[in-house]
Order: sequence, then C-alpha cells, then structure tokens
Amino acid sequence: MSRKTITAALPYANGPVHIGHLAGVYVPADIYARTLRMMGEELLFICGSDEHGVPITLRARKEGITPQDVVDRYHKTIGDSFQDLGISFDTYSRTTSAAHKQTSQEFFSNLLEKGAFDVQVSEQYFDPETQQFLADRYIVGSCPKCSAEGAYGDQCEKCGSTLSPDELVNPKSALSGAEPIKKETRNWYLPLDRLQSEFLNEYIGSRQNWKSNVLGQCKSWLNDGLKPRAMTRDLEWGIPVPVEGADGKVLYVWFEAPIGYISATRELRPDDWEFWWTGDSEVIHFIGKDNIVFHCIIFPAMLHLRGDNYCVPSQVPANEFLNLEGQKISTSRNWAVWLHEYLQELPNRQDELRYVLTAIAPETKDSEFTWKDYQTRVNSELVGILGNFANRVLVLLQKYNNGVIPEVSDQAQAWMDASNYSWSIEDLWSKRIAPIAQSIQEYRFRDAQFAMMELARYGNKFLADLEPWKKVKEDPEAASAVLARAVQILYNTALAMEPFMPFASQRLLDQLNAQPSAESKKAFWLSQAQTLAAGHSIAQPSLLFQRVEDELVEQQMAKLQASLAASAAAPAASAQPATPAFKPMIQYDDFAKLDLRVATVNHCERVPKADKLLKLELQVGEEIRTVLSGIAQHFEPEAVVGKQVLYLANLAPRVMRGIESQGMILMAEDAEGKLHFMCPDQAVNSGAGVA
Ligand code: MF3
Ligand code: ZN
Repeated sequence: MSRKTITAALPYANGPVHIGHLAGVYVPADIYARTLRMMGEELLFICGSDEHGVPITLRARKEGITPQDVVDRYHKTIGDSFQDLGISFDTYSRTTSAAHKQTSQEFFSNLLEKGAFDVQVSEQYFDPETQQFLADRYIVGSCPKCSAEGAYGDQCEKCGSTLSPDELVNPKSALSGAEPIKKETRNWYLPLDRLQSEFLNEYIGSRQNWKSNVLGQCKSWLNDGLKPRAMTRDLEWGIPVPVEGADGKVLYVWFEAPIGYISATRELRPDDWEFWWTGDSEVIHFIGKDNIVFHCIIFPAMLHLRGDNYCVPSQVPANEFLNLEGQKISTSRNWAVWLHEYLQELPNRQDELRYVLTAIAPETKDSEFTWKDYQTRVNSELVGILGNFANRVLVLLQKYNNGVIPEVSDQAQAWMDASNYSWSIEDLWSKRIAPIAQSIQEYRFRDAQFAMMELARYGNKFLADLEPWKKVKEDPEAASAVLARAVQILYNTALAMEPFMPFASQRLLDQLNAQPSAESKKAFWLSQAQTLAAGHSIAQPSLLFQRVEDELVEQQMAKLQASLAASAAAPAASAQPATPAFKPMIQYDDFAKLDLRVATVNHCERVPKADKLLKLELQVGEEIRTVLSGIAQHFEPEAVVGKQVLYLANLAPRVMRGIESQGMILMAEDAEGKLHFMCPDQAVNSGAGVA
C-alpha cells in the first residue's frame, strides 16, 4: 500500500462549522483516516482554514473590523471545535500563513515560467463609488438561470448554478449598491479549454472507482466544454500575484486554497513535504458536492501543469448535502446546528453526534437531520443496543466471576459447539470484522458503521439465546463459556468502534481494562479478531451512553424556531444599504395635520390567535386609548408596560380581530430589523404634544 495524503476541504473562516459540513466532509474523512492509521498505513490527514475570498471581506466590512480579525476569530473557533469532536487532523493550518504565501506564489510562478497561463485584457465590472473592481461576490444581481434576486457574481445560491459576473441580470455592487461600470484590466487565465483535450478528458474518463455523483458532475462540466478561467483577481485581500506590475491583484481564492493542502504539509513536514505530493503518493480529497469542479477539474489541471512528478488526486469521495428539519441549512437565516454550540450545550456527547451524522450521511443523495431522529438513534441504537450489550456483559462478568474472564472447560466448549454459535474466532473476523474494513476502504461509511453495530446486535442475540442468567444455576460452566465468548465479541466491538466513536471506544476499553497495542489494532483490521485472555480482570462497568430526554429535543427545536422567527422579522438579507429610501417631499401643512403625542403604556397583552399583535392601553392625558401594534414577535407584553411611546393620535381607527385600534405607536427599525421605542430622553407628562 502506498502512502496517503488525506485532505478535508479547508473551511471558510467566515463563520463556524455546522452539522452539514461535518456529515459531508469531516466525520467521514476522520473515520477513514483513523481506520487507516489503525491499519498501520503511512498517511497524513491535512486540513486548515480557507482565509481569503470575498465573503470574508464582506463580513469584515459589515462588522467594521479587518479581514484578519474575522479569520483569526473563526480559525480559532473552527479549529477548537474540530479538536473537541475528535477530528484527528495531523495539522490544522491556515491560508494566511507564511508557508502558504510562499508555496502558492511559487506554484504560480512555476506555472508562469512554463507558459501555462494566457494573459488577457478584458473589461470587468468596476464600482465607480468605491473605486474598485467587483469580482465574484462583490457583485450581485438576478440569476440568468432561475431569475432569483441576490445571485452572486460567481454563483446563484438559489439554483446552485456557477455564474460569471457578466451573466448577472441588473448587476449591482455589493459594496455600495451602485450600478457598476466596465473597466479594462489584465488577468492570468488557465486555458481549461486546451487542458480539457490535453489532459482532463482522459483523466476523468479513466476514473473507474470514483463515486457516481462525482463522476456525473465532472462529465457534465466536460460535456458543456470548459472555458478559460481567470486565476487572478483585482482585489486587496488575498495573496499578491508574484509578478512585477501586478499591484492590486491577488491569486484567485480557488487557485490558492487547494494549494493550502500542500502548504500545510510543508509546514508540518518541512523536510519531506514534497514526497507526500509526488511519485506514488495517493492524494484523497474529502469534500462537499459544491467543491467538485475545483477538486476534480481545476486543481488536477494545475497539478498536471506543474509536472515534476506531482500526483493528481486519486480519489475524491464528495458527499451531497444534509438538510435540517425539512429545510436547507442556511447560515444567513441561522438555520443550522453549529458545532461549537452543540459541544457547549450537549457536553460529552461528541460520539452521539458523530454516530448520527454517519448513520444519515448524504453519501449518495441529500439527507436530513432531525432532533427527533437524533434522539431515537441515540436512545434505541447507542443506549439500547450497544450500551446495553456492553453493560450486560460487564455486569454479568462482575457478578458471576468477580470480573475475571473465565476458563472454558472442554465440556462447556463442546456444548457451545453444538449450539447455533459454533463459530471460531476466525469466523468472527471474516464474517463480521473484515466487511467493516472493506466498506470503509470503499468510502461507504454508513454501511461500515451499520456493520459495526451488527457486532453489538449479534452480541445481544447471543446472550438472549444462550441465557447465561439461567444457565448459571443449572450449568455454571456453560454460563462461564457464554460470558467468555461474549466478552470477546465486546472487545472486538470496542476496537471496531474506534474510528466512528473514539471517545466511547476508549471508555469501553477502559472498562474492559484493555490496552490494545498498535500491532493488535493493525491485526484487528487486517487479519484476525483480538482476544482477551482467560484470567484477565475487567474494571468496574458504567453506562456507555446517556439517554436523550424529550426536554433536550424540545430545547433544540425551540432554538431553531427562534432563529426562524428572527429571520422572518428581519428584512431579507440584501446587498443594498439598510437605510430606507427617502419619500417624496411634503409641505408643512401636511406635517401639521399629524397629532403626535407622548403616551404611557398602562397595560399590554397578547391578542389571542394573532401571533404578531400586542394590544396596548395608552394613557394620553386624561384619555385612555387602545392601540394594536404588530410588535409581538419583538417584545414581551411585560417589557412594554410603563414605557413612554411616540403616538400618532389622529390616525383613523381600524378594526382588527374585532378590536378597534385608535391610532398607532411609532418605532424605529434598525439595519438588523430590530425595533426600538422612540422614548423622550426623560419622563414627560402623558399626552404631551410632539412638534
Ligand atoms: N472553503 C471552501 C468551502 O468551504 C473549501 C475550500 S477547499 C480548498 O467550500 F481546497 F480549496 F481548500
Ligand atoms: Zn439561480
């Protein structure tokens, strides 16, 4: 077997990681890397933060901080949360590192020297207000394919089409909202059209063991015919193009980010990094489906051009998407389960998440996470099957034999051989362990995990059929034989659990008082089941998994509902500045008609069956006025009582839900869509005029 360089897509450092990323990329990659490591293979497992690109600068602008501040923050959050989940990267690097700047610039210069790029002068969109070019996500408009508003210069998130800025209908600057103009600029293009016939048709055409969802996408790109693609951009945030006179230009983020895998290797292994990317190394990229073109077409083309014995990716096991409670996961609408929050809110439940995400992994088509399903899988599978099997074996062994693995007498062995459970330890391996390894090596992690659970299912059936708790009275030697065998099934289950659930695997090994060596782990996957010798003492058992109570599901559902309500209340995310447009001019007389007052809220309650409305009772001088206001999703009634509000007293009354609303209260709405009372700077008499 050759050495393997296993990579997981570098997450954008412009937000935390959610369960969709985990199910699609990081959990399967970790299962794969952990298994191969146990097998004793020579491998590196590489990841890091993707810290350039327009979404990061847009986020920085929005928050009024620098792009470096943004990436520093998320690089830490993401890196820490991966570690807490037990993702076993050999390195978690970042693309703002010095090693990456050097490596990606060298790569670019190398291709430049080889004459790999075409230099083209073209007209690109330019923002006349901010005086800058509008690449990728700096430009928005409506999608030429599905007409959705808010499509970006590189992609429509609604229909998933890849776009170029020129295709957008009604393009606008994402920075200023201004209508862009065209301006000439010079960029370096990768001639993907030529590379298609020279290399890519053959490369993709000869991939036999790639997943069909991956090959399907690649072939459709090739069928459409590839076009040259610019590998440089007129932007500030990024890696400067290492060419004289290219000031103000940076490397295209999808050119340099995949080189980040190489840079991270270089940082980790300064002496032999190239060895991992050349010769007969196998490069395997774990990614989500939106990354396929970059890893299967553009990056291989770059590596091919690089030559020098560099290897092209040998396998790209891309997954589809994970949905959440019936909807697409969405960062902007906060419709997600965020890893760092999960780790905080559900401490010590890392393996439960890993397990559920693997069980529902979107390997061949989109799939769905629900909290109810999470609960069911944890309670009936992890607690009910795996935890139960472990606990029964360990407790019975303590109870009947003081925690010592018994010797099996010849007579008891003969009785066992005559039962339905006459297998040898060799059978256990070839029928029940080898298939797990095989599925993992074929990137079928759902199947692999299911086969791992089959060991525990089988163990439970073994106990249920042979009933050691009955045997112990009539034939104690037979009972000992059952336990001696059950504990071997359990030990092998603990070993098989390690790639999927490393924490629970360790807990179980501790309870078994077993410290398998590297040799033993290797033999476990490659050649034989492992055994604990007769006379070995186990430790005290404790429960392997905790049940998930209804309350937890309810809390998580309420949290999701709250983000839904918040995003419904907020105006749709748009690139337009959040200041509303000015209304047409009026005369003083128009204004003078308004009877504006300060009123005090005496009383406030919800309106039954109207989830947006609050009913306010206002004190306006001597008078009491009733007003209905559509603010119920912003304020609790108790929070409104006692407030002084700005009140329009002479608006013609309107009946809603059978209640007459007499005028209205005026509120300020901020850029996030939050409402604020317009209170006097200190208390005034109720009914005071405003002019
Ligand atoms: N940041 C990209 C994403 O989250 C993935 C980059 S993978 C790399 O979709 F290869 F370019 F690094
Ligand atoms: Zn679209």
